[in-house]
Formats: sequence, structure tokens, C-alpha cells
Amino acid sequence: MKTRITEMFGIKHPIIQGGMHYVGFAEMAAAVSNAGGLGIITGLTQGTPEKLANEIARCKDMTDKPFGVNLTFLPTVNAPDYPGLVRTIIEGGVKIVETAGNNPAQVMPFFKDAGVKVIHKCTSVRHSLKAQSIGCDAVSVDGFECGGHPGEDDIPNMILLPRAADELEIPFVASGGMADGRSLVASLAMGADGMNMGTRFIATKEAPVHENVKKAIVAASELDTRLVMRPLRNTERVMTNDAVEELLKIEKDKGDDLKFEDIIEQVAGVYPRIMTEGDMDAGAWSCGMVAGLINDIPTCQELIDRIMAQAEEIITQRLAGMQKA
Ligand SMILES: Cc1cc2nc3c(=O)[nH]c(=O)nc-3n(C[C@H](O)[C@H](O)[C@H](O)COP(=O)(O)O)c2cc1C
Repeated sequence: MKTRITEMFGIKHPIIQGGMHYVGFAEMAAAVSNAGGLGIITGLTQGTPEKLANEIARCKDMTDKPFGVNLTFLPTVNAPDYPGLVRTIIEGGVKIVETAGNNPAQVMPFFKDAGVKVIHKCTSVRHSLKAQSIGCDAVSVDGFECGGHPGEDDIPNMILLPRAADELEIPFVASGGMADGRSLVASLAMGADGMNMGTRFIATKEAPVHENVKKAIVAASELDTRLVMRPLRNTERVMTNDAVEELLKIEKDKGDDLKFEDIIEQVAGVYPRIMTEGDMDAGAWSCGMVAGLINDIPTCQELIDRIMAQAEEIITQRLAGMQKA
């Protein structure tokens, strides 16, 4: 399939694996890229520029296809070494960066000078337009369904994607709730040039996470996610578990007085315990409502091939058949 996104990134299929904390290691990114999509290493998970350089080198050993690096700009006091990470990406020869969180304006000149394409992840039309105005090459439009941070507007993709299509000139991919060929065709119909998936890619053979995480996603239904940290205006969609229910109780009890310190036990530093050790009640971990559509653990190649075959079948058989009638 050829779209503005496949052309821009030099990939076979218009499918991107979004950056994911403690999931986006070289094994994940390489598996997606080798299957014809765009794999993405999560920059902040690596910790330091040196470790990111090592991860980029490992990924290059595993694939000769394009892959990207995610740079998430967090509202944090002890900021990571962003200039060092930017330098590492450029010196590592990576040509695609997925930015997320705060506006990436400060890093744009460095990436532009180095010929790096930037796709910024946004949860609203106004942020997408801002990204376009500061020179981003594409945006990833993340609807309310998404795993991770859906923003504070709560606009689902059935509205958000056509709204983005009406306003944007640069290409965008649909993100949040995407799982299969139906998702891809629907995204294309609503004006996107591809789709971005997070949760779906965790439940694959190559995802470098504990089996318990994959099994939890397969076992979960679309009713099993919760929104946490809304009172802090840092809303995150996570899989429910004992820690999340405790967190929600604390949020309810504290009301408007809630501070980050009150929930630190449930949210800070929990990813290694969940993703690496498989301690599924250790804390809050991002997961999309799309868990309800995930029932197996295929390889990335099987998953992407199946998505493309189903998309083609829908376009050439189901939809074309309706038109003839
Ligand atoms: C476990 C997990 C961790 C994530 N970590 C990040 C992250 O560090 N940075 C980021 O930009 N997005 C992160 N995301 C969001 C994904 O990149 C993607 O936008 C989102 O998962 C799309 O929604 P979906 O899960 O419904 O496919 C994360 C998502 C998950 C499920």
C-alpha cells in the first residue's frame, strides 16, 4: 500500500509502532521494521545518551529497514539530558523521530538541519496544527481510546480524525484503538495516511516484555482500562489492577488537594517491575481500550501481514461489492 506516510518514511506498510516505555527496545522496533512497518525505540527508557546509542546500534544489527526513536518531553523537574539524546539520535544516523508530550519546537532546528523527519504525537486538532506550524513533517493523532496519555479533551477518534483531516495539510496517522485491518481502512477513510499502534504490539511474540503482560492484555476486555491522574491534568489510560484501584481511591479521598506525592507509590518507577518482572499489580501501566480486540500473541510479521490482507479484503471485496450493488 502506498500513502504519504509510506513514502515519507520509506516503509512498505502504513503501520507505526508508537514509542512505549520499557517496551520500545531494539527487539521490538526491529521486529516491526522487519515486518514492513516502522518500529520505534523509546528514548527515555534507555536512560542516558550512551545507552540510547547502544540501543540504536543493536537495532541496526537487527534490521536494515528504517526505524525511529521516540522522544517524550515530560513535565518533570529533573529533566533527562534532552540535548544529549538529540545528539545521539542524529549521530546514530536515525532519520525518523517521534516526539510526544510537550511541544518539540526547541529541538526542531537540530532535527531539520540533520534531515531527520519528525512525527509529533498529539491528542487534539489545535496541537496538531501547532506541530504543523513549527515544521513537523507529520503528526500522530491520538484519540481518547489510546493507551497512555490521551490528554484532557476526551475526543474519540471517530470525531478527532475527520476533524484533523479537515484542518491539517501535513499527513497524519490515526492512533489509539487500532488493532486490525478494519482499524486501518477506517483510519484511511477518515483521512489518515496510516495508523499507529501501541497496546496491540505489546501482545506479540517479539515484544521484549514478561509473558504476564501479554497474557493480561489478551485476558482484558474493553472495560478493563481506567483513567488516572486526571486531577493532576496528566491523565493516563492504564490497565486496572489492585494498585490502580487503590490509586483511584486515593484520588477520590483527596479530591482537589491531590498531589503527585500522594500516588507516587502507584506510579513512580513501576515499569521495570511490570514489564520486566511480570508483577502485574505493581502499579499503573499504560494500556488502551483496544485490549478488548486483542485475543492472540502473533509475531509482528503475522500481525502486519494479517492487517494488510484484511484491509485489502475490505477495500476490494466488501466495500467494492457494496458499490456494485
Ligand atoms: C505500555 C505503554 C507505554 C507507553 N509509553 C509511551 C511513551 O513513553 N511515550 C509516548 O509517546 N507514548 C507512549 N505510549 C503511547 C503509545 O505510543 C501509543 O500512542 C498508544 O499506545 C496508542 O494507543 P493504543 O494503545 O490504543 O494503540 C505508551 C503506550 C503503552 C501501551
